Amino acid sequence: MTGTARILTIETTCDETAAAVIADDPQTGEIQVLSDVVASQDALHRRFGGVVPEIASRAHVERILPVVDAALRQANVTLTDLQAVAVANRPGLAGSLLVGLMAAKTLCLVGQLPLIGIDHLQAHIYACRIAAAREVFPCVGLIVSGGHSHLYRCQSPLDFTPLGGTIDDAAGEAFDKVATMLGLGYPGGPAISRVAQQGDPQRFSLPRPLLRDRERLAFSFSGLKTAVRYQLFGTGRQPAAELDQQPAAELNQQLVADMAASFQAAVVDCLVGKAVQALEQTGFQRLCVGGGVAANQTLRAALEAAAGHTTAGFELHIPPLKLCTDNAVMGAIAMERYRAGQFDRLDLDIGPGLVR
Ligand code: KG4
Ligand code: ZN
Repeated sequence: MTGTARILTIETTCDETAAAVIADDPQTGEIQVLSDVVASQDALHRRFGGVVPEIASRAHVERILPVVDAALRQANVTLTDLQAVAVANRPGLAGSLLVGLMAAKTLCLVGQLPLIGIDHLQAHIYACRIAAAREVFPCVGLIVSGGHSHLYRCQSPLDFTPLGGTIDDAAGEAFDKVATMLGLGYPGGPAISRVAQQGDPQRFSLPRPLLRDRERLAFSFSGLKTAVRYQLFGTGRQPAAELDQQPAAELNQQLVADMAASFQAAVVDCLVGKAVQALEQTGFQRLCVGGGVAANQTLRAALEAAAGHTTAGFELHIPPLKLCTDNAVMGAIAMERYRAGQFDRLDLDIGPGLVR
């Protein structure tokens, strides 16, 4: 494909309705972001302490057209100026994915445009390529979000191989659940990192699951979460649900801060340790990190330290916060598929689960 291409990208995998228009610069071939619109649903889910799938898909239905419209207007283009429509069709919440995919297919039919389905997790890694504005492949990709914690071997933007991931909870999910136990509210990640600043990360001795198994690139945060619960409330026989709702008033402020810091330190050790093991196993020298938990300052600092201190050292890419959380700009990975002439048929389906 030659000449300038403009692609509308749509993202509705979880609880953000997002659209963007991206173009490739005809001179340099670099990707330009012509618009970037995100409608967050945080306020709708907060009182439930997590994303409610049915509420999310209904909210996507209400927002998708205004969001797409805003993205086209902001970019000063109409459907006839586009060369393709891209949509994250996997993985994610089924109902949410369907809304984005149906919107994309409809726009393709109306505008006689080709459809490009993209993998949301690969797009998270591609956010590093956008932020860096230079080559970041080949690299190891680390995704740490509310729903995912995975490592990828990323040979090129068109060639990703899963290396391993969580065998139970995702990192962000563990942050959210521990925050609930500590009475810190939702979303828990930002709250834990805030109070952890006043805490002692060594006060509580918590496990680093699977970290010493150097062969296995996997995470496990469920046992760590349970270890937090036992240290806070003992190993009594109360049902788990009750313990999660334990009133924070029973926990003094310093104890909350110390547990938040100790828990955060354990998660960070696991994420950094496994990322370094993945770099060693692949022989790659770049690490690209994506997902909401990448906003965590302690994680960022530990990754930076590892990048400088591990035997061989490695090049670290973590996008700015806005590109770490769900957005449609990272859907620019579709431009790589467009250039390679890789399009999807209009009977493309959603893929809610992970392809391992
Ligand atoms: O990628 P994301 O915006 O949404 C998806 O899960 O797709 O990630 C949200 C997750 C939540 O679990 C939230 O608690 C976590 O990212 N998070 C953080 C921080 N900011 C957001 N976790 C740790 N520290 C943070 N500063
Ligand atoms: Zn995401």
